[in-house]
Amino acid sequence: MKSKNHNVLRVYRTKAQAKESYDKISRFYDYFAGAFEKKYRNMALERCNIKRGEIVLEIGFGTGHCLKQMAQSVGENGKAYGIDISSGMLEVSKQRLEEAGLLDRVELQCEDALKMPYKDNKFDAVFMSFALELFDTPEIPKVLAEIKRVLKPNGRLAVVSMSKEDEDSILLRLYEWTHKRFPQYVDCRPIYVKQSMKDAGFGIAHREKVKLFGLPGEIVICVKSS
Ligand SMILES: C[S@@+](CC[C@H](N)C(=O)[O-])C[C@H]1O[C@@H](n2cnc3c(N)ncnc32)[C@H](O)[C@@H]1O
Repeated sequence: MKSKNHNVLRVYRTKAQAKESYDKISRFYDYFAGAFEKKYRNMALERCNIKRGEIVLEIGFGTGHCLKQMAQSVGENGKAYGIDISSGMLEVSKQRLEEAGLLDRVELQCEDALKMPYKDNKFDAVFMSFALELFDTPEIPKVLAEIKRVLKPNGRLAVVSMSKEDEDSILLRLYEWTHKRFPQYVDCRPIYVKQSMKDAGFGIAHREKVKLFGLPGEIVICVKSS
């Protein structure tokens, strides 16, 4: 069957531009995006069901709200890792984790998640909140393959993302227009979340459609088969 991905818009800014822009907004990010994303990232985190003693990773951790919860969930005997392309975001998260007394069970990396510095089969769970849809269309299978590499057999991947499944949404088409017109500011764009994970060879454990202030979204939990 022909992949639907040819419909997905491309990412029109470079990694250097993305990094620069997230560095610039890191101190203010929570004021404008925090409220919009909080409910959905918490829903996805709940579905991910992180347990004590687990080794977990967040990709694109932003200002570190989920990473903090992940570090609390794994407890003293577990470990949470985070990778983000923006050093500004890393500094904001580090401060949050330090204030919460959790820095000793967290390891942060400032890098592009397309090339992850982790060994194979390391993580029990990988979490991504509004981050998968920032990778360019040809990069999505690559980053999912990289996640598969670092996940343990039966390890799970939890993603919350804007979704392109609801093609008929007028709001979605308007949003896509703004992404094309103002790529510097509107960097996320809707993707086929569940389908991308299936194409990457993951088993789908849970999928739900959500509305992100009227825009279609998906929460998907998938599993790396052993
Ligand atoms: C839209 S924000 C979401 C932040 C956080 N996950 C949340 O839900 O609040 C996307 C984050 O992904 C990071 N990011 C973008 N491209 C990345 C890449 N190629 N590798 C790692 N992180 C990336 C950005 O720096 C930013 O912190």
